[in-house]
Order: sequence, then structure tokens, then C-alpha cells
Amino acid sequence: MTNKFHSVKSLPQLKLKQVYIETYGCQMNVSDSEVVISVLESDGYSLCTKLSDASLILINTCSIRENAEQKIWSRLEYLRTLKRKDRDLYVGVLGCMAERLKERLLENGVVDLVAGPDSYRDLPVLLAALSGGGKQINTLLSQEETYADISPVRMDKNGVSAFISIMRGCNNYCSYCVVPYVRGRERSRSPQSIVKEAKEVFEMGYKEITLLGQNVNSYLWKGDNKEEPYESDIDFSKLLEMVASVSPLLRVRFSTSHPKDMDDSVLHSMVKYRNICRHIHLPVQSGSDNMLKKMNRKYTREEYLSRIEKIRKLLPECSISTDIIAGFSGETDEDHQNTLSIMEEVGYYMAFMFQYSVRPDTVASTSFEDDVPAEIKNSRLNEIITLQNRLSLQSNLADIGKEFEVLIEGYSRRSKLELSGRTSQNKMCVFPAREYKVGDYVKVKIVSCTSATLRGELIE
Ligand code: SAH
Ligand code: SF4
Ligand code: F3S
Repeated sequence: MTNKFHSVKSLPQLKLKQVYIETYGCQMNVSDSEVVISVLESDGYSLCTKLSDASLILINTCSIRENAEQKIWSRLEYLRTLKRKDRDLYVGVLGCMAERLKERLLENGVVDLVAGPDSYRDLPVLLAALSGGGKQINTLLSQEETYADISPVRMDKNGVSAFISIMRGCNNYCSYCVVPYVRGRERSRSPQSIVKEAKEVFEMGYKEITLLGQNVNSYLWKGDNKEEPYESDIDFSKLLEMVASVSPLLRVRFSTSHPKDMDDSVLHSMVKYRNICRHIHLPVQSGSDNMLKKMNRKYTREEYLSRIEKIRKLLPECSISTDIIAGFSGETDEDHQNTLSIMEEVGYYMAFMFQYSVRPDTVASTSFEDDVPAEIKNSRLNEIITLQNRLSLQSNLADIGKEFEVLIEGYSRRSKLELSGRTSQNKMCVFPAREYKVGDYVKVKIVSCTSATLRGELIE
């Protein structure tokens, strides 16, 4: 008797097509992971939700601050223990850290595959080569890649809110920032492919999309583009209107806006379309002109504040959030006080706040000293956080008694008798569930709040 039809290899072979993906960093990475899964599904892989089922583990990484990279190194150490138990398991590093560290990631013996943010189409080829033996790497950056034609596999949990990437890369070179080095040059995706994706997600039942880019306001599709010509150039405000026209029931958000490019045309488009959400994330980074100059942000405090004034004038109900860096090179106590005062002046409802972390090869790392002592960075950051908590509470208290439309995203964390969702202003709101379900729009009147959440009652 021969047992040659007994394929002893069939089990590992089956397992070979199971991929598990972990995503770190910003929404652009979340969106990229969806593209990666789409590429791999076309190559016969299926996505699994348990690490132990996977034959391929991909980590989509972030390099924005040193601690973001530290987290990945620790995770790789954990994956080393899994690899010891399963010799057929492959580990791949994708994203910004892959781009920054390249071959250096292959040195510790855990990582088999390194793929930068513009090389995801090449993954099937890299993976095929991997099973033939030898580690694989592709970190070429592209001037054109936007993955426009790839339908992302939505991995979000609620089925209500989807991200659509409209551009890639960044040309701004803020002196502290690693993004232009790891994501390459700015390039915009064709308007038609963006609108098509928006229509598709709406038809799938999604009620909200967020247009994503490192700097969405510099989105530009030239009218004379041979691939997809238009009568005139399509800038971000025109694109916003095209997407908002898909349906009045589809909410549109966008992130991130750079203050230097946030012109009135976008505000006018927002005024024109109620379904463009009343929220602008406008990273200030610092309230001090000295710091802003050294950061290469290309605006002054006064210019930033005049943008805010214009937003307030045209869209009085618009909420504003920001990013802040504490303890950048040479920051004096006076600079820091200026940051606190601009926060007060704008009254942000929310902020992402960070200590400055030197990134190798950036202009700041080669030209300026990281001279603010760690304990001062820390105490300044704490002051900033304390102030922001107060401002968030203040902003929420001002909403008590007001009515908002909320798009339901899920149950509240505390109780199945309560639902939660966000207002157009991007504030989280909880309210009694009654007969409503995820994906419904409801009218809510705010009755109380904390600094993080609004609590409302339903109104007919
Ligand atoms: N493209 C977006 C933000 C990208 S990174 C923009 O320009 O607004 C998100 C935030 O991380 C930045 O706004 C900044 O506040 C912070 N950040 C970037 N580099 C940093 C660094 N080296 N140290 C600390 N924070 C940093
Ligand atoms: Fe980084 Fe500045 Fe580009 Fe934002 S705009 S990604 S902070 S270089
Ligand atoms: Fe991080 Fe890359 Fe985004 S460095 S913040 S994942 S673009």
C-alpha cells in the first residue's frame, strides 16, 4: 500500500494562508492595513483574528516617537517566543518603522519580511519568495502609488464609520517630524476613485466616512491629468463637495488639516453641506512664534488665531481640536506659557499632547539640541494635560441644554441599556437605548457631562 496521496504537508499548507495583522500609529496605517488585507486576500490568504491561528503575522508600525518604536520592539520579542514554538510561522514588519529601519529590522532574527508603505502590492511576490527561503525586503518609496484601485477590506468593528485615504506622503518637513522620510512625497488619489469608494461604503450601510491624509488641505488633482481629466483642478474643497454630494445621510469628516493650508474655501464648502461634520482638527504644536519657526510650521501664532477666528465666524457651531508638542528644542518657560495661553484662547474641546521625542535624521535632530531636560518636558506636558482637561470640561458644559444629532456607533461601555455615538462636533455622547440601533441617527438633548463624554436624553 502506498500512502502517497496522504499529503502530510496539507496542514501546514492550510495554515500558511492565514494572516493576522496588528496596526499601530495613525489612521493612515489603519487604512493601509485594510489595503494590505485586500492584496493578501486576492493572493489566497484569509484574515484570522487569533494570533495562534496565523501562519503569517504582520505588524504595521509607527515611528512618530521613540516610544512608538519601543512598543514594536517589545512586541517582536513576544513574537520571538511564538516563533520558537512554531517554525512555520513568519513575521513581517510593515509601515513607517519598516521604511525607517529597513535591513536593520532583519538583524534580530525575529523578522522575516520588511515592507515599506508603498510596497504593499508587492507582498504576494515577497511572500512567495519567503517560503522559498531567505528574508525579504522592499522599502522603495513611490511618487505615484495611492492604491486607488484597491478596495480595502473594512476591518472596523462598528460598520458605521469608514476611513478613505485621499492622499499619501507629506512635503512639509516640520523639523521634528519623521513622516516625510517614511511616507515619501505628497501625492493625491483620483477624485473619481475616492467618490466611487464613498458610494460603495454608503451602499454597504456605512453612515460616516473620514477622508484621510497627512495634510488633506494640500489635496490636488490637476485638471489636465491624462488619467482622469477635469475642466479645472480639483482641490480639497471641491473634493469635499463631491464626496458630500454622495448622500445627505452620509456624514463626511476629514483629517488632518495643516493650519498653513486651511483656506476659506474649505470653510465655505462646510457651510454649504450640513453633512460635512462641524469639527476641525487643526494641530497648533506650540503657541510660541519662536518654536513655530524652529519647527518649520510656516505660520505664526497670529496667523493661526486668525484661522480660528474665521472658523468661528463662518461655522460658529464648529468644534476644534489640536496636537501639541511639549519641550521642543530650546523651549523656554515663556514659550511654554504661550502654548498654555493659546490653548485657553482657542478653547480646544480635545487635544493630543506629546513630549518632544528626537527622531533620527530629521532637521531638528541634526541641527538643534534636545536641550529641555526630561523632567521639565514631563512637568510641562502635565500642565498642558491638566489645562486641556479643564478646557474639555468647559466645552462640554457649554453644550448642556443644547440639541445635537448623534450617529449611533455602539453600546456605551457601562451598560447595554445605553447607546453611544458622536455628535457632528465629534463629541462622544451616551443616551438611553430605547428602540434605536447602531447606524441610526437620533436627536439628543444634553443634560450632563464629564470632560470626556456628553450625556443626553432622546427627543422626538
Ligand atoms: N500630519 C499631521 C500629524 C502627523 S503626526 C499634521 O501635520 O498635523 C501627529 C502628531 O504627532 C503631530 O501633530 C505632532 O504633534 C506629533 N509629533 C510628530 N513628531 C513628533 C515628535 N518628534 N515628537 C513628539 N511629537 C511628535
Ligand atoms: Fe509631520 Fe508636519 Fe507633515 Fe504633519 S505636516 S506629517 S507634522 S511633517
Ligand atoms: Fe506613525 Fe507613520 Fe502615522 S510614523 S503617525 S504611522 S504616518
